[in-house]
Amino acid sequence: MSILASSASPVLLFATGASKGLGKAIAVSFAKAFQKKKITKAQAVLMARSCMDDTENLMVQEHNALQICQRRLDLADLNTLEPKFQDIWTQFPPSSATHALLINCAGTTGTVGPTSHLTLTEIEKATRLNLVSKLWVSSRFAQTYSPVCATTTIANISSMCSIKATPTMALYCATSAGRDIFHQVLAQDDDNNNLRVLNYAPGSCDTDMQSFLRTHDSLDSHVQAYCQSLETDQKLVDPNETADELVRRLLDQDFESGQRIEYTDVSTYKY
Ligand SMILES: NC(=O)c1ccc[n+]([C@@H]2O[C@H](COP(=O)([O-])OP(=O)(O)OC[C@H]3O[C@@H](n4cnc5c(N)ncnc54)[C@H](OP(=O)(O)O)[C@@H]3O)[C@@H](O)[C@H]2O)c1
Repeated sequence: MSILASSASPVLLFATGASKGLGKAIAVSFAKAFQKKKITKAQAVLMARSCMDDTENLMVQEHNALQICQRRLDLADLNTLEPKFQDIWTQFPPSSATHALLINCAGTTGTVGPTSHLTLTEIEKATRLNLVSKLWVSSRFAQTYSPVCATTTIANISSMCSIKATPTMALYCATSAGRDIFHQVLAQDDDNNNLRVLNYAPGSCDTDMQSFLRTHDSLDSHVQAYCQSLETDQKLVDPNETADELVRRLLDQDFESGQRIEYTDVSTYKY
């Protein structure tokens, strides 16, 4: 069922990592798509630690009837995760929407450097945000919304690092791969037959994460040269373009639940 089948059906959108980079581009792309498809009853909940006024303003420019709520929270703080999300689910209950969407996007590279030198603290820190928190958010979102809403859709923002071992980026690779398989199983375990899950690898995007990698001393020299060449050769993906493709697929439900979709041809990753 396309989410756009009836423009009168209320849509509830939750987007993590919405303060900048890809998450911001995805939030704005949704606003643009809702406007184009005349979806008037849409609410968006934006999540990140820092202010999301810029994202909100861009969304309102695209769709001035969109209701937007910012929630500033640290997704790596596992002690506060449950009460904070309970509060959000209560404010935006499943009964208020026909279609519920989660864009599970917030993330970090974690420590970059030789895998045999990783400390317990570094492993735990990267895993807390990139794995534990993100798995829990998707799981609880499915539990809360799929028994009630006509469609419940989850996009796990994946990476080519899920399928390509990348020197000095073991934490990023391992947590990305772990999320992918978790979301595949989440799709299989759908009891209500209305949960749709997509693992979406957005390509190497022109965001702060890429500029961090280009200049990070501990990144493998071949990987770094590759990251630098993406910028020099203007091969970085425009976050707005990959966001538009993701949003189109989600709203048209143009994917198999549990599928992994790559924005960029994986054979182009040369390092
Ligand atoms: N850029 C790429 O080439 C690329 C490629 C494949 C996949 N991805 C994935 O795409 C996602 C977004 O990446 P990006 O490139 O847009 O990175 P980015 O520019 O660094 O943005 C990261 C986002 O995550 C949020 N975030 C980080 N730590 C958080 C925390 N503890 N609690 C809540 N929010 C937190 C940040 O918000 P605050 O700092 O305001 O909290 C920000 O909105 C990541 O999952 C990344 O792995 C990126």
